[in-house]
Amino acid sequence: MNDHEVGDQHAASEFDANAKTLWHGRFEGGPAAELMAFTESLSFDIRLWPDDIDGSTAHVRGLLHAGLISVHECDAILHALAQVVSEIQSGSFEFAASDEDIHTAVERRVTEIAGSAGGKLHTGRSRNDQSATDVRLWIKRELREVAQRIVALQMVLLQRAGEVEGVYLPGYTHMQRAQPVLLAHHLLAHGWALGRDIDRINDALTRVDVSPLGAGALAGSSLPLDPQFTADQLGFAAVFENSLDAVGSRDHVAEVLFALTLVAINLSRIGEEWVLWTSEEFGFAKLDDGYATGSSMLPQKKNPDIAELARGKAGRIIGDLTGFLATMKGLPLSYNRDYQEDKEPLFDAMDQVRLGLGAITGMIATSTFVPERMQAAADSESGSATDLAEWLVLQGVPFREAHAIVGSLVREALAGESTLRDLVAQHPRLGPEAAALVAPGVSVTRRTTPGGAGPIPVAAQLVRFAEALRRWSSQGGSTA
Ligand code: ARG
Repeated sequence: MNDHEVGDQHAASEFDANAKTLWHGRFEGGPAAELMAFTESLSFDIRLWPDDIDGSTAHVRGLLHAGLISVHECDAILHALAQVVSEIQSGSFEFAASDEDIHTAVERRVTEIAGSAGGKLHTGRSRNDQSATDVRLWIKRELREVAQRIVALQMVLLQRAGEVEGVYLPGYTHMQRAQPVLLAHHLLAHGWALGRDIDRINDALTRVDVSPLGAGALAGSSLPLDPQFTADQLGFAAVFENSLDAVGSRDHVAEVLFALTLVAINLSRIGEEWVLWTSEEFGFAKLDDGYATGSSMLPQKKNPDIAELARGKAGRIIGDLTGFLATMKGLPLSYNRDYQEDKEPLFDAMDQVRLGLGAITGMIATSTFVPERMQAAADSESGSATDLAEWLVLQGVPFREAHAIVGSLVREALAGESTLRDLVAQHPRLGPEAAALVAPGVSVTRRTTPGGAGPIPVAAQLVRFAEALRRWSSQGGSTA
């Protein structure tokens, strides 16, 4: 049974007003059905169960370390936690109607299994530090996977760039043809942007990698807890400095959402280009059947749905970020139940970015490029206008003047009397040597600036990108 099925099972279960809450001592009556329906989080925080088990395991060891429970009690609780794991994994875990979140469910079951020892599990701990700990552990795990998938996409971009030596296409500004660029250069431009996404993820992870366990509800505890001990048990790089801040901040969640949103935006931009490139109008690339869809009505259609949804889903992921920022705004210290709202946007953004990376990677890996179409588009005569102006500059003509000379020739050529090449050949300041620059395929070879779009700098760039990729891949999602 997967996480979602477990959640569905809970949602479908009958509500039992007599079931015991964690706070039943203070209350005469049980919770109203409407309260449970509106405030429960089990239906989505169920997926934190492995992290909840890890957090509880560390906490129980911490209680033993602090002398608050006996070895026997510690063993009984750890044994019960192990049983909870196998019950959840096998699908036999039975959720109770009173399980408002995963923390409640695990603690209830541990107490059922371990008896009075189980009742000590929550000693010195609140669900506030517990859920904050779980989410941090979950982010560390999941972001690593996202970073690895970014690296996989970068590898495909590098591989495809290596395959298309010499192929060029128009480079665009304002979506108007500007200057020819090598296809490898265009593909690697996305690769570098994705590298910054990995850097941002790793940077955000340094702030995620701080244990809040031991902060309790908000102020720590009178019990001799050792937050450093549990942080070490859980593999956190650091421990909280301030208990109010530990349970009362979620800026790390917002940062992760921002990093994910930028990944989504980068995928969206690639998607938009693929939509254009695979259109009949551009015809720069063809989709593999496995990464395209057909139309239910129009027999001839082959649609770039992955590319479109990469674009479309970026909108909702931006919504995940902005919605959560609005949730955080104005919350006084420390924990407020509003913070329960960190999970759904975080889970959604992480899931969609992870899935989008896989789909876009497959789409790019299997697309067929159409060099003839790309090059025909890039070989329009006016693509070499800047080269002509720069040729004049090398003859000592001030650039502004050179720009005006070539601009007026382009205007004349567009009027249709004569080709640009002929006009250049006949022009007293230009002539046949300059006219040779207007020939197909010449312009891109003249882009020699380091980091530029021509064959010489792109060959160097391929080496530098491969080196950088080794670094991103070794750091991919690591919290070091
Ligand atoms: N489900 C809650 C959350 O995600 C757990 C913490 C609840 N704490 C509380 N005091 N009610 O934030």
